[in-house]
Amino acid sequence: MEKFYVTTAIDYVNSTPHIGHAYEKIAADIVARYHRIRGKDVFFMTGVDEHGSKVEKSAADAGKTPKEFCDEMAEKFQLAWTKLNLSHDKFIRTTDPDHEQAVQVLFLKLLEKGDIYKGTYTGLYCEGCEDFVRERDLDENGNCFNHKKPPKQLEEDNYFFRLTSYKDKIREWLTRCPDAVRPEGRKKEILNQLDDPELADFSVTRSRKSLTWGIPVPGKEDQVIYVWIDALSNYITGAGYPHDPVKFARYWPADLHLIGKDINKFHSIFWPALLMAADIEVPRQVFAHGFITVNGQKISKSLGNVIDPITLVDTYGADAVRFYLFAGTPFDNDGDFSIRDFADKVNAELANNLGNLLNRVLTLVDKNCGGAVPILDPGETVDHTLRQQANEIHRVVDKHMERLEFAKAIEAIFALVDQANKYLNDEKPWSLFKEGKTKEGSVVLYTCLEVLRRVTMNVYPFTPELAQKIWEQLGYSDDVGKIGDRIDDNFFDPIQPGMKINNTGPVFKRIELPEVPEDEEALVEAGQKKDDKKKKDK
Ligand code: ME8
Ligand code: MG
Repeated sequence: MEKFYVTTAIDYVNSTPHIGHAYEKIAADIVARYHRIRGKDVFFMTGVDEHGSKVEKSAADAGKTPKEFCDEMAEKFQLAWTKLNLSHDKFIRTTDPDHEQAVQVLFLKLLEKGDIYKGTYTGLYCEGCEDFVRERDLDENGNCFNHKKPPKQLEEDNYFFRLTSYKDKIREWLTRCPDAVRPEGRKKEILNQLDDPELADFSVTRSRKSLTWGIPVPGKEDQVIYVWIDALSNYITGAGYPHDPVKFARYWPADLHLIGKDINKFHSIFWPALLMAADIEVPRQVFAHGFITVNGQKISKSLGNVIDPITLVDTYGADAVRFYLFAGTPFDNDGDFSIRDFADKVNAELANNLGNLLNRVLTLVDKNCGGAVPILDPGETVDHTLRQQANEIHRVVDKHMERLEFAKAIEAIFALVDQANKYLNDEKPWSLFKEGKTKEGSVVLYTCLEVLRRVTMNVYPFTPELAQKIWEQLGYSDDVGKIGDRIDDNFFDPIQPGMKINNTGPVFKRIELPEVPEDEEALVEAGQKKDDKKKKDK
């Protein structure tokens, strides 16, 4: 069985999960479910990044030890991901003992090889980035561009990684594997950075004086392994390196690292260089996605626009959130989250377009076909563009999904739903049955049921709960298997004539946003209105 290993960035636990974190994790889940339903042995890993000065500081602010703080935060992330229906096979924490040991093994291996060596670091460090920065990375006030805070001046005895030995090899890798870093624009960025002579060997430890919450360098207790080495290594340690060689051989190299555009350098330069140094294969692809803004603004605590994915799911359901985030914006672009747009899109496609098609068809089947998938005469087919479109949908979706063009896949699926609704309006099976044209009416309904079957399989990675509900209403019982258990062979196995359908009413509830005066609109937009109201009601 072919394998597919997909990862996400592991989130810093210094703040609670927001919709931007959720975006990336859902994308990985969509990919994982897509490959699983096509019969692949998928390993999907996500997790949290727990070490570093930021986390240490947040713990202190909360009056907790770092470990207590991380335990609580890790639980919050896991709860959010459970609510969003993520199907990850492993949730890694960088405080997991086998991870910590593995990072030390890797470190010693590179030290022995001479790719890690002792030196002195003098320069600046931004705690927000957890990265060494240069003057030119700062704005006119001397602050980090991303974090709007001044970096720290450091002078420390550190260990360095010999990145400069690997620059050519990385260039060569990017030429040999044109899809190794995507999208194209992000790859160009990496190639430019590689050409920058200032991209030098980098420090891979911190002095214990400046960082205590981290993995110690074995035998050198005054040195702590740099958070990015610790964090990046999760992709191999979580797949069994070095403690489970069978698992590691099975899943490594990763087929896809999904990350945000802000951490591309770490994933497309540092990480492959470290792997090359350790004689470990490099990943097949790094994909740097765009950022989610909220009402056009960067998500930030100080702006108070951090949408809690848990509240969102509790209010509107996981499918709506999953669908909306990928329906509009191409994955490599930035996208905006606005609650009005969210309600409009979700209502239009899931409730009206798909929900209504299902409802109309099943009601007609109940009324005219005794509540079972109509049995057609042998050789009965329809000559209709809808049939053609339905037959091609898997291939079209495959083409987009292989490129991670989620919005295009969704567009193709819902164009088919749209077509089916139009077909129904044109063919008017209700009239056909009334006129006694049972054969013709049955063909129309059968065609729509088959379209619904195909749509359901294709929409499943995006909206798994909704897809399962439709699956059951179409008549598939658990004896046949859940929709997620059906693999590629079944794609072309048409809906079974005579199967009893199970019409239990609307599968998707429309989202109704509260009516509010204009001056409170901003609160609704920030997703806080409902909360405030609930509090008042108590
Ligand atoms: O960078 N929209 O953690 P992190 C989309 N621990 N994606 C977003 C986003 C937004 N508004 N905000 C953040 C780290 N992200 C490191 C990663 S991996 C070995 C270590 C994405 O919590 C961000 O780009 O700051 C990153 O991919 C992920 O969320 C975690 O960000
Ligand atoms: Mg970040």
